[in-house]
Amino acid sequence: MSEHTIFQRLALGYLAIFLIVFALGTYTILRLGQLNRITRSISSIDAETIRISNSLRNASLSQRGFEEKFIVSGDTDFFNQFSEIEKYIQQDVHQLSILVNTPDKKALIAEVEESHNKYVLAVQEEERLMEAGGKYSQNEYQERKKDLVNKTTGSLEKLTGISRADIDEKIESSRKIGSRATRVTAILAITAIVMAILIALFNARTIDRPILTLIKGTRRISEGKFDNHLTIPSPPEIRELANAFNLMCDRLKKIDEMKADLISHVSHELRTPLTVIREAANMLSPDTVGESAISSEKHRRLLAIIREECEILIGSVNRILDLSRMNAGMIDYNIDKYSLCALIEKSVSKIEPLAEKKEINLDVKIDESLPLVDIDPEKMCQVLDNLLGNALKFTAKHGSVTITASLRNKETAGDLSDKGKGVVEVSVLDTGCGIAEENIPEIYDKFKMFSGKGTGLGLYIARQIVIAHGGNIWVKTEQGKGTTFSFTVPVS
Ligand SMILES: Nc1ncnc2c1ncn2[C@@H]1O[C@H](COP(=O)(O)OP(=O)(O)OP(=O)(O)O)[C@@H](O)[C@H]1O
Ligand SMILES: [Mg+2]
Repeated sequence: MSEHTIFQRLALGYLAIFLIVFALGTYTILRLGQLNRITRSISSIDAETIRISNSLRNASLSQRGFEEKFIVSGDTDFFNQFSEIEKYIQQDVHQLSILVNTPDKKALIAEVEESHNKYVLAVQEEERLMEAGGKYSQNEYQERKKDLVNKTTGSLEKLTGISRADIDEKIESSRKIGSRATRVTAILAITAIVMAILIALFNARTIDRPILTLIKGTRRISEGKFDNHLTIPSPPEIRELANAFNLMCDRLKKIDEMKADLISHVSHELRTPLTVIREAANMLSPDTVGESAISSEKHRRLLAIIREECEILIGSVNRILDLSRMNAGMIDYNIDKYSLCALIEKSVSKIEPLAEKKEINLDVKIDESLPLVDIDPEKMCQVLDNLLGNALKFTAKHGSVTITASLRNKETAGDLSDKGKGVVEVSVLDTGCGIAEENIPEIYDKFKMFSGKGTGLGLYIARQIVIAHGGNIWVKTEQGKGTTFSFTVPVS
């Protein structure tokens, strides 16, 4: 089925529905035709037979009346009336013989014809006898005529009865046909509706599912994941789309790799000259060449700017290189048992000059009895440097930055860690600008920064390192009041 195009699927579905509807229509037309034929035969044959039979019976009786009056009075006017009616009777009998279609009815009409003809012959005979004036047995003729007329009307009544029964029978059979047709039509109509729904659902589903998969794939691309190759059983048009999508993924992946390669290449190329510039600036600083060698205050300030900017650039380049290595999965962790106290002190001493310059109060509160932890000291230093660097960067003059480290056992660590021996929790508190609520979810993203100078990589790298150590990192912040970044390291 997946070989069929969307057009073919829809066309096949509609064809199936059309066939059912066509069958339904044909069946209904046939049944209606049958009912129509029955109704027509009732009105044109049976009802007509009854009508003519009745009129024939009446005619026969009134003919008999005129005949009797003629016999009694001998008035020829009555005989003329008798003959006049005879014409109508012959016409009616003829019509009836054409109309009826069954042998029993035909036999009845033959009987009518026979008895009536005999009756007419008897009357004519009597009339001749009366004209001759001779004597004859009037009673005998009376009896014969009466019998013959009775026979004629009796046969006509039988014919009417049979026709009535026929009408009843036809009505019953059309009732049966009608109710069967209703049932069959209802079943076919329900089947058509159910099939239409099923076909529509099936088609919608086969088109819908691959599109949903494509949407998911597209979302992954928007998240920067280009590794998803879609193989979805789908109609050819959508398969074509999926193939184009896969091609796009490959291309994007290649471009992404090229971009990462370029950045890491450029950063690498920048690092050596930058270090050389820093060393040169250091050599030119008043500490090495002596105060007397610096010609002016301006000269001294420019040198300081060169050194500071060099530091920032070297830091940025190093972080970009770290990121490239992290993305390539090339980061090796040299884990060993270390004390966090020593690392914290080292990091703090690095930023002390900056804190002094900004007149920021730097406080260290470390639990003396902290246990050793399994860490890569160099990487952990990067985490501390960035958190402390951020705290200083985003705290204004005369503010304060505090770093604390304490042991948290299973209970006090809450849901943040389920490590057996508890964790060491390090927090960096500042009284800086804080982070806006809506920006919090994005602060760990690559290249995301909301204020200050930098690359926006510090927190991303810090989080990767903390997670690689089996710990956790989180932030509590209030805009305008300050920020606390905390992370944990499991006790070894
Ligand atoms: N202590 C803090 N106070 C206020 N905002 C902060 C603090 N720490 C981080 N942020 C916000 O989070 C953003 C991301 O921080 P991150 O350390 O990742 O990048 P950065 O410091 O700007 O650049 P980099 O660390 O690469 O030099 C910052 O740009 C800043 O807006
Ligand atoms: Mg930073």
